[in-house]
Amino acid sequence: MNSAEELKRRAAHAACEAVRPGMVLGLGTGSTVHFALLRIGELLRAGRLADIVGIPSSTRTEETARSLGIPLGDLKDHPAIDLTIDGADEVDPALNLIKGGGGALLREKVIAQASRCNLIVVDESKLSPRLGTRWALPVEVVPFARAAEERFLASLGAAVRLRQRDGRPAATDQGNWILDAAFGPIADPEALARALDRRAGIVEHGLFLGLAHEVIVAAAEGIRRLRRPS
Ligand code: A5P
Repeated sequence: MNSAEELKRRAAHAACEAVRPGMVLGLGTGSTVHFALLRIGELLRAGRLADIVGIPSSTRTEETARSLGIPLGDLKDHPAIDLTIDGADEVDPALNLIKGGGGALLREKVIAQASRCNLIVVDESKLSPRLGTRWALPVEVVPFARAAEERFLASLGAAVRLRQRDGRPAATDQGNWILDAAFGPIADPEALARALDRRAGIVEHGLFLGLAHEVIVAAAEGIRRLRRPS
């Protein structure tokens, strides 16, 4: 395991300490959450954790969790989630996030909004003075609206690229497409989120504002916990 992976593993393991028997657990998506899934599977097999139900945020997470023996449910039966563990692409000092690098932003946001507590696990490379500095903003659009929303995002100053896989548009779990909108440092994420929320062709965007309760940051010197002021 290289050092970047080791940091992800440490952050994920620290987050798993918050998991208690009986919890409904939101399961995020991504390479950092992957280590949390492995850990939860390990705790279940060792009998140190029981009676949890996971709500996966993507088919990828669902498949991994299932293969690890993590009991799964859905929002229909469990509309209130106790704790969600998820990753992020960028974290600002107010604990606002950019998410969606793995394409699961829509379900991730649904799960985050249904969760009493959102625990975000990152390595220190994800910390950023201002959202947009390091990462393009993923914007999920219905395929019908692609050109119109691409034009709209460009009118806001973004350099826009349609996310592709194997030479074709990368479809999300909902069958939508993702426009990666590189804005550079975003001066007013709230205003940008409001502008994006108004567009009919935009299903969701990767600005997760005011949703993270705690961010667990793994660095070479150790684990840091950043909490949102209440
Ligand atoms: C998935 O859509 C994303 O929101 C991920 O949670 C995010 O990209 C972080 O992924 P890594 O942990 O792989 O960096």
